[in-house]
Amino acid sequence: MLADIESILITETQISARVTALARSIAADLVTLPREDEIVFMPIMNGSIVFAADLMRQLPLKMRFRVAMISSYPGTSTTSRGPHIVGSLPEDLRGCHMLLVDDILDSGQTLQLLRSEMQQRGAVSIRACVLLRKRLATTTSEAQSCEYVGFEIPDCFVVGYGLDYDDYYRNLPHIGILKPPPFEVPA
Ligand code: IMP
Ligand code: MG
Repeated sequence: MLADIESILITETQISARVTALARSIAADLVTLPREDEIVFMPIMNGSIVFAADLMRQLPLKMRFRVAMISSYPGTSTTSRGPHIVGSLPEDLRGCHMLLVDDILDSGQTLQLLRSEMQQRGAVSIRACVLLRKRLATTTSEAQSCEYVGFEIPDCFVVGYGLDYDDYYRNLPHIGILKPPPFEVPA
């Protein structure tokens, strides 16, 4: 697995320090809500699995946990085919304060889709937290807006710490840049 990685972009130590800082600022904001018990922590699966697990354990809030499954990169593609919801989302979110958690913000379509779905279901506030945001020349800053961002990264395809290529590399503890494919298919 490590042989497929060109270089490490963000180390485990850097991730860990940043997650702690993000959690502090999220907790400081959310603790001021009138009702802490109406917070819903919603990781966007599968990519945010590792980030969400680390982040949630540093949020000392009385909050619920609901998962959203979104797919946008089928198989070996490295460009989004547009996000679609897999399975179902919670139907009734009246009175809820949503904290959406994702691995990476690219075009912004995934978060836009979920924000609108949450609004339709009656959420009273929606915040999003992403570990990474890709700097894209082609996308407006509005489409990439997000309340909490861990790291701004260049426009390259990254894996590790939950992020995948064809469902591989999610278990890498750091964020790495892949060697150009094909690396796993010997001729
Ligand atoms: P967006 O809808 O274009 O913002 O794409 C966000 C989703 O695309 C993320 O939740 C990731 O699952 C996936 N994605 C975007 N860039 C990368 C990448 O560099 N590596 C792995 N997955 C990515
Ligand atoms: Mg994703």
